[in-house]
Amino acid sequence: MKILVVGQGGREHAIVWKLSTSEQNHIYCAPGNGGINDLAQCVEFKKIEDLIDFALKEKIHLTIVGPEVYLADGIVDEFEKHGLKIFGPNKMAAMIESSKVFAKLLMAKYGIPTAKFEIFDDPNLAHRYVSKVEGPIVVKADGLAAGKGAVVARSKESAHKAIDDIMNRRIFGEAGKRVVIEEFLQGEEVSILAFCDGKTIIPMVSSMDYKKAYDNDLGPNTGGMGSVAPCPFYSEETAKYVYDNILAKTIEALENEGIKYKGVLYAGLMLTKVGPKVLEFNCRFGDPETQVILMLLKNDLLEIMQATVEGMLNSCSIGWLDEKAVCVVLVSGGYPDAYKTGFEISGLEKARKNTVIFHAGTKKINGRIFTNGGRVLNVCARSQSYEQARKIVYDTIKHIHFENIYYRKDIALNL
Ligand code: AMP
Ligand code: GLY
Repeated sequence: MKILVVGQGGREHAIVWKLSTSEQNHIYCAPGNGGINDLAQCVEFKKIEDLIDFALKEKIHLTIVGPEVYLADGIVDEFEKHGLKIFGPNKMAAMIESSKVFAKLLMAKYGIPTAKFEIFDDPNLAHRYVSKVEGPIVVKADGLAAGKGAVVARSKESAHKAIDDIMNRRIFGEAGKRVVIEEFLQGEEVSILAFCDGKTIIPMVSSMDYKKAYDNDLGPNTGGMGSVAPCPFYSEETAKYVYDNILAKTIEALENEGIKYKGVLYAGLMLTKVGPKVLEFNCRFGDPETQVILMLLKNDLLEIMQATVEGMLNSCSIGWLDEKAVCVVLVSGGYPDAYKTGFEISGLEKARKNTVIFHAGTKKINGRIFTNGGRVLNVCARSQSYEQARKIVYDTIKHIHFENIYYRKDIALNL
């Protein structure tokens, strides 16, 4: 099988790694990175049409899309117009992530549990609303903002500032034409990803990511500094509730709206005292959740993806290793703000059994690996306990060096 994976982060490396365990697969990755390069043929591209030309020329059997931007831009619709098979939701379905207004209105209409909210397209009305409400609130840009579009405002000043930044200064561009202002929720956060073929939805093992830059959940939000699977706070009872009241209900709601959702549906949930509520939906695999999830997947990933695309998920039985997986993200010092890249990385050969080092922002030049982004490497291990997996990860990290390396020391601590 010829497979094309689109993307260049740790998530895509994990997908390529899992697919590469099946020897019949010939994998291409566009554009890929320094680590993906060992398992797949990396291909450069500028626009979606270049990928279509490539897929037609190489007779690619299945294309798998990592990042949300391509899905929101309609890569699936374009591929399907050319008769090409592709894993991911189409442009309409991707709105569940690309428009928070769309997602919130859908949840409200169908009674899917989420934070109470108001929508504004006029900054003056948003300011007026904020002056009236008490306590912390959350201000969210409607559109895609690379994971930075949600501001938890603990004071009125920060809420007003968020409205100005998003709607007047347009720091996220057109994504800030509208905002959702919602109730602040408290509890443990969990990421539930599910395969979905439009009718059947099968949840993956639960997971959680560590979003804050510094230890003890301090500092700015990032794309993710670590992850674990399964999530220790997610009971079977909660899973049943989430399946019935959130996952299945969302797919049904979309179907009712005339939208067939195919691909991965990612529900970011807050486990509140009164039950799980949706913080956000993503239309794709999470990063760095995918890294730990795929380390525990027993099945052939390609078979599940093909069944998803063909609408045959009901014939799949998906199994997970009864182990714990831990991922620590090594970043360039300064991330998520300004950082330098281009430093050589050493010690990558030290990974042991059941340990994988996924590359995120790396580049291979003449056989040597250099830093090439904020999130650089994802060091992952699986074992019988969180503690053991965590120890393997941090022992591996001791051998890895690059200038200005930074990582959290408390991933999977005390779970
Ligand atoms: P989002 O982009 O909507 O997932 O928000 C990013 C992060 O902001 C979430 O992972 C939460 O940590 C936090 N967050 C979002 N919405 C809320 C909320 N209603 N209450 C508390 N925290 C939230
Ligand atoms: N880890 C959060 C995300 O993928 O959006």
